[in-house]
Order: sequence, then structure tokens, then C-alpha cells
Amino acid sequence: SRRITVRDIAAAKERGEKWPMLTAYDAMTASVFDEAGIPVLLVGDSMGNCHLGYESTVPVTLDETVMLSAAVVRGTTRALVVGDLPFGTYQEGPVQALRSATRLVKEAGVGAVKLEGGERSADQVELLVSSGIPVMAHVGLTPQSVNAFGGYPVQGRGEEAAQQLLRDAKAVQDAGAFAVVLEAVPAELAAEVTRSLAVPTVGIGAGSDCDAQVLVWTDMAGMTAGRLPKFVKQYLQMRELLGGAAKAFADEVVTGAFPAEPHTFH
Ligand code: KIV
Ligand code: NA
Repeated sequence: SRRITVRDIAAAKERGEKWPMLTAYDAMTASVFDEAGIPVLLVGDSMGNCHLGYESTVPVTLDETVMLSAAVVRGTTRALVVGDLPFGTYQEGPVQALRSATRLVKEAGVGAVKLEGGERSADQVELLVSSGIPVMAHVGLTPQSVNAFGGYPVQGRGEEAAQQLLRDAKAVQDAGAFAVVLEAVPAELAAEVTRSLAVPTVGIGAGSDCDAQVLVWTDMAGMTAGRLPKFVKQYLQMRELLGGAAKAFADEVVTGAFPAEPHTFH
């Protein structure tokens, strides 16, 4: 069976079907989500926090994204794999964006790329799309701007901010984006953006009226340590389960219970 494409994504909005997206950073985890039928996997620059041990997404490099995107593509057969352009690999302008996105398409084999920004990134979206690279845009809370935001505050509150968010979403749609991530915006505003766009919105902390929903997989699975944003739902307590398995292994090594006869060659 062939991979999901951006045309399937457009058709889903026409049918009014909601769809899920998860992040993935390695081949094995990606294969689990692919087998579970998740149609779109994002190799998010959240890999900075969730996979590579950085404090934010800001230090993530294009080389890291290319390497992990290639792994996710290798681990899947059906999902549309979207590679996230890291901070500093597209802000200089459309030509830099095309050079960076081309690496993700050619070296990693992704079917689309994602970048942050509305009006400010519209020229980049336009050149990528006209060059044959599908683009998912990302507006609202854009974590690569953490230093400018001074944290991760909810976006689009107040009339002026709401109007700007609507303009940002429209700008990237008009530039050719096939979908728009809305992060940390009030549900009512996300619903209005969703109604006003012909392309699907992908919500994260943006209420239930978006066309699609995305979560960072380590948050969704309860693997992430520490306090999580309000919008996360944990569907598993993976950190506890995996830690328990590691402790059980350690105990059995110390007591000599492992390896036992079934695990032993003679
Ligand atoms: O990097 C990421 O995981 C993302 C999603 C949260 C949309 O950009
Ligand atoms: Na991201």
C-alpha cells in the first residue's frame, strides 16, 4: 500500500474527517505508530527537548533533523513523514529555506516539511511549494521564538492578536501550505481559523474544532519527565513502566536470577 500524500490530507478536509498526528524521532517508535495507523508523523524539532537533551528546540541542527527524519522514513511504509525545519535554517529567506528543505527531501526522503511563522514565512512557503515541496505551516505559539516570547504563553488572546493570527494563517494558506499547525491558541479562535481556511488546521492546545490534532509522542505516552502543558493527555505511563522494567532487570542481575536456564547456551 502506498504512502499517504498531501492530496489525501486535502481530501480528508473535504470529507470532514478528523485525523491524528504524532511526533517520532526514531525508526522503531515510528514503526509502532505506522502500524497503529497514524497517517502523519512529524519529525518535530521537539527532538531537541524530547530526544537530544537540549533545553529548547533552538539548538537543533539541520544535520540532526536529516538524520532522524531518515530513520523515521526507514521505519515506516504508510505514514506521510513531515520533517521540521530547525531554527536558523529558513529565516534568512526563501533560498535558504529551499536549500534546507531540499536536504530533508533528498537525503531523508520526507514527503513534506514544516516551518514556523505566518506572514513572516509566507515567501519561504511559496518558493518551497512552487519547487514541489509540500509545506505544513505553524502559527500561534512558535517555540523557536521562545527567547522573544519569554516562555511559552498562549497566543491570540485579545482582538488585535486574534486578527493577526487569522492573517498569519491566511497568508501561509495563500502561499500554498497544505496544512497549518495552531499551537496554544484559544479554542474559539482556533475554530474560527479552521472555518475560514480551506486547508486543514492541526491543533495542539487549540481546542477540539481543529481538523487534526497533534501531540508530542513522549508527552502522549507519559515518557516526558516533569510538568507537562495543560493541553497534553497521557495515554500511557511509559516512564514508570520502563523504569520499572529497568529496576526489575537490575535486581535480577544483582541477585543472580538473570540469566536463567532458558537464556543460557551450553
Ligand atoms: O516540534 C514539534 O513537535 C511540533 C509540534 C508540537 C507541532 O512542532
Ligand atoms: Na516544531
